[in-house]
Amino acid sequence: MRIESPRYTERFGSVRINDVQEVLELDSGRAKELPLEENIAVLKIEEDTIKDFEEKMAIVIPTRDEKLKLFEGVISGVPHECLIIVVSNSERKRVDRFKMEKDTLSQFCHFTRRKALIIHQKDPILAQAMPEAGYTDLLGEDGLVRDGKAEGMMIAMLIAMMAKKEYVGFIDADNYFPGSVWEYVRCYAAGFSIAKSPYAMVRILWRYKPKISAGMFFKKWGRVSEITNRCMNSLISSKTGFETEIIKTGNAGEHAMSLRLAEILPYASGYAVEPQELVSIFEGFGGVLPLAHQTAAKHGVEVFQLETRNPHLHEERGSEHLQEMLLPGLGSIYHSRLCAAETRELILNELIQQNALKPGEKPPKPQLSYLPKKANLQKFTEDMEEYLMGLNSETGH
Ligand code: GDD
Ligand code: MG
Repeated sequence: MRIESPRYTERFGSVRINDVQEVLELDSGRAKELPLEENIAVLKIEEDTIKDFEEKMAIVIPTRDEKLKLFEGVISGVPHECLIIVVSNSERKRVDRFKMEKDTLSQFCHFTRRKALIIHQKDPILAQAMPEAGYTDLLGEDGLVRDGKAEGMMIAMLIAMMAKKEYVGFIDADNYFPGSVWEYVRCYAAGFSIAKSPYAMVRILWRYKPKISAGMFFKKWGRVSEITNRCMNSLISSKTGFETEIIKTGNAGEHAMSLRLAEILPYASGYAVEPQELVSIFEGFGGVLPLAHQTAAKHGVEVFQLETRNPHLHEERGSEHLQEMLLPGLGSIYHSRLCAAETRELILNELIQQNALKPGEKPPKPQLSYLPKKANLQKFTEDMEEYLMGLNSETGH
């Protein structure tokens, strides 16, 4: 594939945030031994390179009661080389939707000769293995893993670490276009292939997010993204002293990380997870607060923002849901130790304007969790590996 070179990079301590890079060509043809022309504004990522990175990548699909047809489409779009990890929080009582997802995945793996892993977020064996490994961050009062997309993502990261993958990418299960899923993964691979640091993150910016009202309108920015990006940029500007618009993917649900980066970040619960990842990176490596990790700081943390060709079409969940997303996301910026008074004021004004807060109220403070330390992961692996393989005996294991 061909993508734009990173033309502008903003530095915040040891964090390098690259401006948006567009995809120019989804398929750039065969590898040529000698490049005919040298075009430094454009990067050609060879198919073999993309496959090399896909092989080292787990693609995580968090799902909760999504239409099975959508789930089926999404898994069909994940490139063959990637390991699919599904963490489901779907209903099991009235209708066993989890079983339907598992059967769909098994059938897919059978006919495509590939491997995948699926687990339910509320699996009691999983919940038992965590405290035994000395790790309780994700458990709720009932002793099971809490609800939430972020909690599902974290379980999947543990599984990706167990599977010895080097990269982990996230893709929502409610996506209508399998072709866009395929493009996201290629973008993840392309981003990692040009990263200079092993501590890297790739965030997807959709070219369009169509809305269906009277007809189809190819909207570019969602309201939540616009506001989150503005507040995130304000947080950076207040520390660097230079106004910036560098962040365009503050909420990116579709994103990927090297596991070396993933294992050292704290994560927020639910929908605050994506903005909090950036906040955690700025706090840990922005050079304003004490460094979170010496080696990562030495290499630097790199953030790429890739703009796709496919539009993004997913399930519409109404305006109440937008508030449910906006509030925790802005809460993660508001409560950051980096957040200056002017950014706090901006956040409160935005939230009041969107009727997400009343005057005098504050956004909620995010609940932060870490992935388990190496020793705990080892014990967790011992407890879980066999069980997970048994559970997934029909998905290529
Ligand atoms: N495992 C698990 N557990 N998955 C869940 C849960 C849960 O408790 N809750 C939701 N999901 C799954 C959904 O089924 C879907 O596949 C994905 O997580 C995202 O949830 P949506 O409800 O579709 O979120 P959204 O479309 O409003 O927001 C998406 O885009 C935002 C950026 O625009 C999400 O990816 C957000 O995280 C993101 O910030
Ligand atoms: Mg969605």
